Amino acid sequence: MADKAVADLTRQEAEAELARLAQALAEANRAYHVEDAPQISDAAYDALKRRNADIEDRFPELKREDSPTEQVGAAPADGFAKVAHAQRMLSLANAFDAEEIADFDTRIRRYLGLEDDAPLRYTAEPKIDGLSLSLRYEGGLLVQAATRGDGAVGENVTANARTIADIPERLTDAPDLLEVRGEVYMSHADFAALNQRQTAAGGKSFANPRNAAAGSLRQLDATITRERPLRFFAYAWGALSAPLAPTQAEAIQRLSALGFQTNPLTVLCESVAGLLDHYRQIEAQRATLGYDIDGMVYKVNDLSYQSRLGIRSTTPRWAIAHKFPAELAWTVLDRIEIQVGRTGALSPVARLRPVTVGGVVVSNATLHNEDYIAGRDAKGQPIRDGKDIREGDWVQVYRAGDVIPKVADVDLSRRPDDAQPYEFPHKCPECGSDAIREEGDAVRRCTGGLICPAQAVEKLKHFVSRAAFDIEGLGSKQVEQFYRDGWIAEPADIFTLRARYGSGLQQLKNREGWGEKSADNLFAAIDERRTIALGRLIFALGIRHLGEAASNLLARHYGTWDAFIEAVDAAAPGEGPAWETLTGIDGMGAVMAHSLVTTLTQPAERASVDRLLAHLTVTEAARPQTEGSPVAGKTVVFTGTLERMSRAEAKARAEAMGAKVSGSVSAKTDIVVAGPGAGSKEKKARELGLQILDEDGWLALIGAQ
Ligand code: IVH
Repeated sequence: MADKAVADLTRQEAEAELARLAQALAEANRAYHVEDAPQISDAAYDALKRRNADIEDRFPELKREDSPTEQVGAAPADGFAKVAHAQRMLSLANAFDAEEIADFDTRIRRYLGLEDDAPLRYTAEPKIDGLSLSLRYEGGLLVQAATRGDGAVGENVTANARTIADIPERLTDAPDLLEVRGEVYMSHADFAALNQRQTAAGGKSFANPRNAAAGSLRQLDATITRERPLRFFAYAWGALSAPLAPTQAEAIQRLSALGFQTNPLTVLCESVAGLLDHYRQIEAQRATLGYDIDGMVYKVNDLSYQSRLGIRSTTPRWAIAHKFPAELAWTVLDRIEIQVGRTGALSPVARLRPVTVGGVVVSNATLHNEDYIAGRDAKGQPIRDGKDIREGDWVQVYRAGDVIPKVADVDLSRRPDDAQPYEFPHKCPECGSDAIREEGDAVRRCTGGLICPAQAVEKLKHFVSRAAFDIEGLGSKQVEQFYRDGWIAEPADIFTLRARYGSGLQQLKNREGWGEKSADNLFAAIDERRTIALGRLIFALGIRHLGEAASNLLARHYGTWDAFIEAVDAAAPGEGPAWETLTGIDGMGAVMAHSLVTTLTQPAERASVDRLLAHLTVTEAARPQTEGSPVAGKTVVFTGTLERMSRAEAKARAEAMGAKVSGSVSAKTDIVVAGPGAGSKEKKARELGLQILDEDGWLALIGAQ
């Protein structure tokens, strides 16, 4: 239908097509912005939007009230108030096989200093495939319900949660403050009936129960949520005024006694073998449970162990998700395309004939890198028995959870006679610069740097992304649009947009997708980010190897931009005391440090960063909650054997109390904790006249005796 030229459309056809496009684009927007599950490619989205605009140009009188050209992003996401979680909502680390579960158990024992045969119990329960929700009860009354969001800030969906029968309004005998966390989901039967009703009423049907649950909970109009059959399983908690119980299993029983649904397939296991046994049993029952699960979750049962183990940046050390094997399907690989990323990496993508894999239509899959296509691993050893992947091949595609689908295998018996081995490009397809592969690197990279449009635009997208500047109303699509039109070429340009194009908002207003209000909102959102936390700023620069956790680590370590950049400049030669100090920061590897220093001292890059900084006020990094901590701000080095806790636990506890843990002793070190067998570091500390403590002395100092 959509391929008839716009010039040839009759009025009637145009009207019908505009209606169809409005619906398709609204749906695509929702899938992308609200459900975080894009159903069409960016290119397909752009094509729909362009066609819509072309038809509107020819028939302006047919432009609809809900015309997609007037909308940016998805309305519902903006419609909910934001809620800062009193305690972060965590996610889970994933494991895919028995060995990873054994490693999980070993890691925990090592961290807690438990022998291999010491008792250590775990709960095992199904991992529900829905969306998580945090319910806050005060004085036994439900006062707030919030989605996970990015873990720190979610959306207030209280009115919607109140419509869910499994969620009690009032609790008796509950702690005064209680945050109950769990999963909202939809059963298979309810999902099928809902889709039938939707189709009968001419509405859209949902791809799977998870999407249906997400779409139903995140309705601005709670009366719609009320009509949707949502359910809730409680499996965790957040802030509490009094502990629920001493163990995970008892805490879950307590939640059940308070009136929550808890999963009946939860068991307590004595060993890894017990966990794996339960995993196999549940996997065998999976199809008959009546709701979707995508694995099992194992949690350390003893809550005092849980609190000692604590969390890494976003996942607890004491729990893990053991995922069920990925779902598989065969389809034809039509084309291999190369995408150029923020750091210049050339990533091959398989464009597939659409196929349903585990309830989701898949039309793209990653091919990793050129070796993977050629049938080799990073060490040159054959994978898939050395079979290469060619355009036109029948390939096996799989997806596990929400991750990008992958190509697993090739069926050589169905290979077309004229299929040619794929030749990986040695020039960047975006800017024509040489694409080179360094020794030991699996990835080929464009050498175009800032002149490569793909890198520039990906850098900008990263810059505005959630964990970076998070500018509302300026998402990937808008960045692409602005970049294409030459309005922004680098991050600094975002902050001069209003000065250059804002007068009267006339220019923005006339652009596809922008109304006066959205332009106004955008400028306000940009202004809000003129003040930015140091960690976010460092992360936003998109330096290779420097993720969110490392950026925050640097921010906490240096506190201010000036201190940070001074240290980077001083470390630039890649050796000497400043370099040693930088790489001595615990958690900072040499690869990260090298990338940081080479990027920020590269003149063009640095000039671009300086232009950006001229528009910003950088706030000091929030230091951990350490009021009254005797070690806040102190630099501590652990050396020798620790007998009462593992090195990892010692470090995590010290950091939680505001100390910096370093790997090497220098004049900047405040305290050296030396256990038996301490050698050169203790000696150096003595020479420098530093404070030296044994393990008991350290525990006494931090009040942990
Ligand atoms: S525990 C403190 N238990 O899986 C750990 N999560 O991939 C918090 N999920 O964000 C999670 N079933 O939405 C836990 N039985 C279960 C779960 C479960 C499903 C979800 C949850 C979480 C995600 C992580």
